[in-house]
Amino acid sequence: MASEPNNTIQFAGRMAQLPPYLFGMINQMKMEKRWQGDDVIDLGMGNPVDPAPAPVIEKLVEVANDPKTHRYPVAYGMRNLRIEIAKSYKKDYGVELDPDAEIICTIGSKEGISHLCLALIGPGDTVLVPAPAFPVHIYAAIIAGGSVLRIPLAEEPVFLERLETMCANVYPRPKVLILNYPHNPTAVLGTRSLYERVVYLAKKYNFMVIHDFAYNKITFDGYVAPSFLEVPGARDVGVEFGSFSKSYNMAGWRLGYCVGNKQMVTGLRQIKGYYDYGIFSAIQIAGIVALRHCDEDVLHQAQIYQNRRDVLCEVLERMDWPIERPKAGMFAWAKIPPPFDKLGSMEFSIEMMKRANVALAPGIGFGEEGEGYLRIALVENEHRIRQALRQMKKAMREMEQERDL
Ligand SMILES: Cc1ncc(COP(=O)(O)O)c(C=O)c1O
Repeated sequence: MASEPNNTIQFAGRMAQLPPYLFGMINQMKMEKRWQGDDVIDLGMGNPVDPAPAPVIEKLVEVANDPKTHRYPVAYGMRNLRIEIAKSYKKDYGVELDPDAEIICTIGSKEGISHLCLALIGPGDTVLVPAPAFPVHIYAAIIAGGSVLRIPLAEEPVFLERLETMCANVYPRPKVLILNYPHNPTAVLGTRSLYERVVYLAKKYNFMVIHDFAYNKITFDGYVAPSFLEVPGARDVGVEFGSFSKSYNMAGWRLGYCVGNKQMVTGLRQIKGYYDYGIFSAIQIAGIVALRHCDEDVLHQAQIYQNRRDVLCEVLERMDWPIERPKAGMFAWAKIPPPFDKLGSMEFSIEMMKRANVALAPGIGFGEEGEGYLRIALVENEHRIRQALRQMKKAMREMEQERDL
């Protein structure tokens, strides 16, 4: 019997706006190499490799043994977890939050940012995003139907001037600004003065602010990352997203939160009510333990990243590869030195994967403003970082000889 022809599968129009995922190719190569038995050193993804704090894991196991926790959870976050988040904001930033009106838990911060964009942005709305950018900051707004204008990142005064020029000249006026400090991929740390100016501009030009604060606790050399909400008036204009993924090594657990402006939090709560049922209760309870008892673990983890940063930067400097030492986050943002810059970040990363068994994130994956750079994640141990750089150095020497670069 002749088989019926397949139905035509036709995606929605918005799918055409999503470019090919540039990290996909590097990831695919990495997997294929690993299947063949090659030892690929992965400095590409910001996927933490260290364990979550022991008391958090113990609490998860204990609570997961209680079948009552297997029911649908409180979608917007257990009250006790929201109270604990409020306490941590008071302790860390001196910011008082109402756990019932100004805090909502999310399935990691990425989910929260995406759904908040759906709640705030629609066709005809303009969204400002500093670039290079973590892809969801751009594409959550685009998927929601908005038009994104990118502001090239620069030193603070230049960046603020660009922001103000856009606010004053763009029509329709920007509706939302998406910030992210400490920044992925460039590792730039936000300052109170920057946030103060942003709040001033948000009030003057009437836009909302979403601040992604996923790397809040991973800072080095005594630097502290201020919260956007520390600035007077911030909660009149915006919200801040936090995450358990990086500070507590709980990336796979999917636990985050959104705090700040009541109406924005309510909008997120409303839209999430249609899409999801929140986070497994055992994870939420384990999150309470993380916030209550694991400050030392967070400091220890930040020190681990700082030590890896030191190794990475020292070895790169010895290779005559100038690098700005990141003050925060899980990444170094490295300009590709000549003559290899001619290749572009994608081809250079592919060569490093092929020849050196090292995965790197090409800067172009964060937008054209990232071209010429590599994002190097501090997720392998110091020994492996040294080994990766040795292998890269050898591969670069080979390339120079072969290609007459
Ligand atoms: C800037 C930034 N925001 C958000 C996320 C995602 O965090 P979460 O695991 O909380 O969704 C990441 C992950 O890499 C990130 O780099």
